[in-house]
This record gives sequence, C-alpha cells and structure tokens, in this order.
Amino acid sequence: MEEFSTITETRNYLSEFLANGKSIGFVPTMGALHAGHLSLISRSKSENDLTVCSIFVNPTQFNNKEDLQNYPRTMARDAVVLREAGCDLLFAPSATEMYPEGESAGLALDFGKLDKVMEGKFRPGHFSGVATIVDKLLAIVKPTRAYFGKKDFQQLTIIRHMVKTLDIPVEIVASEIVREPDGLAMSSRNMRLTIAERNIAPKIYQVLAKLKEKSGKVPVPELREWAMKKIREVPEFRLDYLEIGDNESLQPVSNWSHKSRAMAFIAVFLGDVRLIDNIELFL
Ligand code: PAJ
Repeated sequence: MEEFSTITETRNYLSEFLANGKSIGFVPTMGALHAGHLSLISRSKSENDLTVCSIFVNPTQFNNKEDLQNYPRTMARDAVVLREAGCDLLFAPSATEMYPEGESAGLALDFGKLDKVMEGKFRPGHFSGVATIVDKLLAIVKPTRAYFGKKDFQQLTIIRHMVKTLDIPVEIVASEIVREPDGLAMSSRNMRLTIAERNIAPKIYQVLAKLKEKSGKVPVPELREWAMKKIREVPEFRLDYLEIGDNESLQPVSNWSHKSRAMAFIAVFLGDVRLIDNIELFL
C-alpha cells in the first residue's frame, strides 16, 4: 500500500492509472477505522482496479471544538488495517495541505431544504464543511466510484446532490449500515463510550427496530411520539431529534402515503458522545 500525505504525490501516482483507463474506487474517511469503513473498502476492491482511502479529520465539518479535539485518532493502527484489507493507496493529508488558504475557505452550495433538517439543523455549517472536503478529495483522487455508508444518510443525500449540481464525473455508491451484534451502528465515536454507556447504546437501534415493526399500523405522529418517549425514558440519553422522513427529500412525513420511501432518523447524546442512526421502514 502506498501512503501519501501530499496532494502532488497522490495525483502523480494516480495519473498513470487514469491514463491507462483503470477504474479507481475511493473511500473517504476520518479514520479510527472499523468494520463499517472496511465494508466500503472491500466493496470498492471488488468493483474497481484500484482502491484509495483517505483519512482526514476535517476541521471544517465540526461545529463543536471539543468534538474535534476528542475525535479518535488511530492512524498507525488504521494504516495496518488498510494494508491487511488490501487497500492500494492511503492519502492522509495535514490540515494545512487541505486548507492552505485557511479553514474559512470553503464551498457555499445551496442544498435547498436538504440541510435545513436533522444534522443540518442541529450542526450548523456541518454540511458545507463536508461538501467542501469531499469536493476537494474528489478533485484530487478523480475516482470512477466513491463509496459512502447509509449510516450517514443525510450526508449521502447531500453528496449526491453536490455531484449532480457540479457535474462531478463520479458514481456515488451507497452501502448498507454495518452493526455490532447487539444492533449498535458501528461508529468511530463508539470508542469514546464508557462501558456503562456502551451497554445502553444498543437501545437506540432497539427503538428504531420496534418503530419499523409498528410503522404503517400506527399514525406517523403517534409513532414518532412513542419512539421519542422510549428514548427519553432512558435517563442517560439526551435526544437531539427523532424524525420520520422521506428518503429523497429528507423532509418529515405526516402519513404513510409514500410508505416505501419512509425512514426514521435519530441523533442522541450519550454522555458527551453524539450517536446517529437510521432505518428504512418498509424495505
Ligand atoms: P467517517 O465518519 O469516517 O465515515 C466514512 C464513511 O464510512 C462514510 O461514508 C460513513 O457513512 C461510512 N460509515 C461509517 N460508519 C458506518 C457503518 N456502521 N456502516 C456503514 N458505513 C459506515 O463520514 C465521514 O467520515 C466524513 O464526513 C467524510 C465523508 C470522510 C468527509 O470528511
């Protein structure tokens, strides 16, 4: 596996593959890799000639300084894991490499209503930071396909929107959520949970799974209230939002008229760790 920290080295190395018409699969990450990330790497490997992974804890998408400081960083281990997974190139730049003009230089795209709800509403500026870094990474790697997890469903939707709006020549591939055996969605932030918190965390998925079971049978507002109550019953949880929304517009739905597109989305604090999850209700 090649390991580069500069844009020039990465571009130079990949230019030969691009010139020879090889397909490049790209998995952007912030590191502290887990089986969710590795599922994207292995899918990319099976669908492309070359697989590139980036690790960059992108400061511009953190709306909270402590969250950025506390974000887990396990670079040495990540490089070993990627090598074992058969990744071909790791691009791990510094903040000055990615933001030579300073962190305020970024994309101001109009995402319409997509970033006015859920993560966009609770984390102001988050998605312009995500869009800026993903746009820059796509311009550096020029992948044939880029892989994203449904775990961050709103991010996936916003990236699809950006790629379409800016005519970026890449295929966006969405991959299923990888969960722990007890249902907890894998996340780099799970490492920061205490043992007690880790034991409580699967309750998030249990509520989503029950919500799915009940969907279509109970009116939407009632079901949403029921699920919020279940979360609030756990004193350690602090609920940011629980929404039942449309999988394309991401806007809240008030009835089951477009059942097949309905999803539930949740963001919860457990201690100072913020966890998100979602579930497709009729698929
Ligand atoms: P990060 O949180 O490291 O996630 C990198 C990719 O892995 C994202 O596409 C995310 O959706 C996916 N992923 C995370 N947990 C997953 C799980 N349990 N199952 C399946 N996929 C999972 O998302 C980011 O980084 C950043 O915002 C980034 C896109 C790299 C831009 O900075």
